[in-house]
Amino acid sequence: MSYAIQPLNALKPEQLPEIAKLHLEDHGLLTQLGYPFVLRYFEIVIRDPRAIGVLAIDDQTQKIIGYNIASPEPSALTSQLADDKFWFVKEILKVIFTRPAAFMQLLISSVTIKSQMKDEADALESLYLTIDEAYRGQKVGRTLQQGLFAEARKAGYKRIVGSIETWNEASLRMCQSNGFVIKKTFREGKFIRYRIEKIL
Ligand SMILES: CC(C)(COP(=O)(O)OP(=O)(O)OC[C@H]1O[C@@H](n2cnc3c(N)ncnc32)[C@H](O)[C@@H]1OP(=O)(O)O)[C@@H](O)C(=O)NCCC(=O)NCCS
Repeated sequence: MSYAIQPLNALKPEQLPEIAKLHLEDHGLLTQLGYPFVLRYFEIVIRDPRAIGVLAIDDQTQKIIGYNIASPEPSALTSQLADDKFWFVKEILKVIFTRPAAFMQLLISSVTIKSQMKDEADALESLYLTIDEAYRGQKVGRTLQQGLFAEARKAGYKRIVGSIETWNEASLRMCQSNGFVIKKTFREGKFIRYRIEKIL
C-alpha cells in the first residue's frame, strides 16, 4: 500500500462527504451529534484560513484514508455551526429529542473548548485525526501526524496541543511515539481526557 500526504487545501468541496463519513469512525462528540453536524463542521474547516491540516490519499484509489486537522482557536470553528440559525435550530432540536445526553455534553464541551486555548498564542490544537479502519496499524497515523507538524512549523507555531480520551490506547501510543507528553488529566462532562503537548 502506498499513499501521499497532502495539505488540507488540496481537499475539493466534492470530497467533503467522503471526509465526513470517514470522521464517523471517530466516536467523539461531533460524531454523536450526527452526520449533518460532521459535514457542516468540515465545510467550516476548509473555509477557515487559520485551520491547518493534512490528508493521506491512497495512490491507487485516490481515496482519503486519513486526515489530521488543527486550529489555533477551536471554538471559532464550533461557534460557526450556529451561523445559519434556521439550519442550526432544526438540527439541534433533532439532537435534543433523540440524543439529549449528546446535547448536554455539547454544552459542557463548548465551555471547556473556549477556555482551553487562552494564552496559547504559539500553539496549535490538533482537533481530529482518523485513519480508515482498513488502513490502521500500518503507521499511517504516525506519518500523517508528522505531516501536520511540518505544516504547523511552516505556519510559525512552536507547540501542538491536544486532548485524548484516557481509554484510547491507540491514539495515546501514536502521540507518544511522535513525542507528545501528557500534561494533565481532566474531566469534560462524561469524558476523561489527557491534555497532551508536543514542542515543535
Ligand atoms: C488512533 C489512530 C489514528 C492510530 O492510527 P494508526 O495508523 O492505526 O496508528 P499507527 O499505525 O501509525 O501506530 C502508531 C503507534 O501507535 C501504536 N498503536 C496503533 N494502534 C494501536 C492499538 N490499537 N493499540 C495499541 N497501540 C497501537 C502502534 O504500535 C505505533 O506505536 P510505535 O510507533 O511505538 O510502533 C487510529 O486507530 C484511528 O483512526 N482511531 C479512531 C479515531 C481516533 O481515535 N482518533 C484519535 C482521537 S484523539
